[in-house]
Amino acid sequence: MSRVRLVNISKHYGATVAVEHVNLDVAEGEFVTLLGPSGCGKTTTLRMIAGLIEPTAGKVYFDDQDMTNLPPNARNIGFVFQSPALFPHMSVADNIGFGLSVKGRSKAEIKDRIAEMLKLVDLIGYGDRLPRQLSGGQQQRVALARVLATDPRVLLFDEPLSALDRNLRETLKYNILELQRRTGKTAIYVTHDQSEAFAISDRIAVMNRGLIDQIGTQTEIYLHPQSDFVAEFIGANNRLEGQITALSSEVTTVQTSTLTMQCPTRVGLKIGDTVVAYVRPEDIKVLPNGDSSTYRNVVEGMVEQIIFEGATAQLRVGVGSESLRVDVAGAERLKLLNHRGQIRLGFNEVTLIPASA
Ligand SMILES: Nc1ncnc2c1ncn2[C@@H]1O[C@H](COP(=O)(O)OP(=O)(O)O)[C@@H](O)[C@H]1O
Ligand SMILES: [Mg+2]
Repeated sequence: MSRVRLVNISKHYGATVAVEHVNLDVAEGEFVTLLGPSGCGKTTTLRMIAGLIEPTAGKVYFDDQDMTNLPPNARNIGFVFQSPALFPHMSVADNIGFGLSVKGRSKAEIKDRIAEMLKLVDLIGYGDRLPRQLSGGQQQRVALARVLATDPRVLLFDEPLSALDRNLRETLKYNILELQRRTGKTAIYVTHDQSEAFAISDRIAVMNRGLIDQIGTQTEIYLHPQSDFVAEFIGANNRLEGQITALSSEVTTVQTSTLTMQCPTRVGLKIGDTVVAYVRPEDIKVLPNGDSSTYRNVVEGMVEQIIFEGATAQLRVGVGSESLRVDVAGAERLKLLNHRGQIRLGFNEVTLIPASA
């Protein structure tokens, strides 16, 4: 178990910048996920922690120990890949015990440890099978057991579920979290899948073009995105460009091409600034006729499209030159299915981001 720290770490391939000045501090026992689109530098970052890629600049620490120049086998990490990569001609038990036999542990100790690991990943009775006699999910649990058997300081996961089908992903992600909690090991997990990241992480680092754009808990990232990229990458969002025309400590007025909006004030912005205002589709309420509601922003629009998605109905509403997405849940979504024409909308929550961010 270790605290893991990346200090100003970068990786360049010629002119290609894979990772740039990444700083990350993962507490002992914490589960941190690197989340971002393909090519943003997640794998490169994780492999630098493992020692599989040498950084161009910066340092990797486990606790106060500088690991930057140590090879992978001297770091005592457990690495789980997208594909379980088990030895095909070895039994499940031998696969799990492999790392311990390499370390020269006694037969008796290895046997005990294998039994313990099979129990941990819920595969008692499968020790004698070959990997090909297991399902994809079971194989990935063997890979987990193999990694945990050596009692690593740090667990590293690179999209371990992305080759599996959806139902299996759903259960296995909670298996991984449970194992991490039970063993108390520091874990760093890479995925491009937001719902996976939200389900299992203590904190999430959102990566974009080799940089960590924002790191925080699920609610911090979802409710208070600090950049355009995070606001658009995490969840659905309505994006409205405008200018600040009035300001108090509580309320900021933003003028877009067609709307005047009252928004919660964000520190650091001033009158005249160009901003992007984000309004979550689920934060916009459809108001019944004649409702003189208490919403800070009430706008009239025309329904352009209604998509029934099951648990929600997604409305497209034209408001002046803007088109807003509105997500309606509950019984109300059914009432709206045949709604055409004019509609009134109300919302309070607006996130303001400086246009340059
Ligand atoms: N060995 C390499 N040589 C050149 N460019 C690379 C190499 N490995 C990765 N890259 C580039 O670095 C960037 C980050 O890659 P990677 O860390 O694999 O992203 P992710 O895991 O987030 O999809 C990408 O633009 C990728 O093309
Ligand atoms: Mg990758």
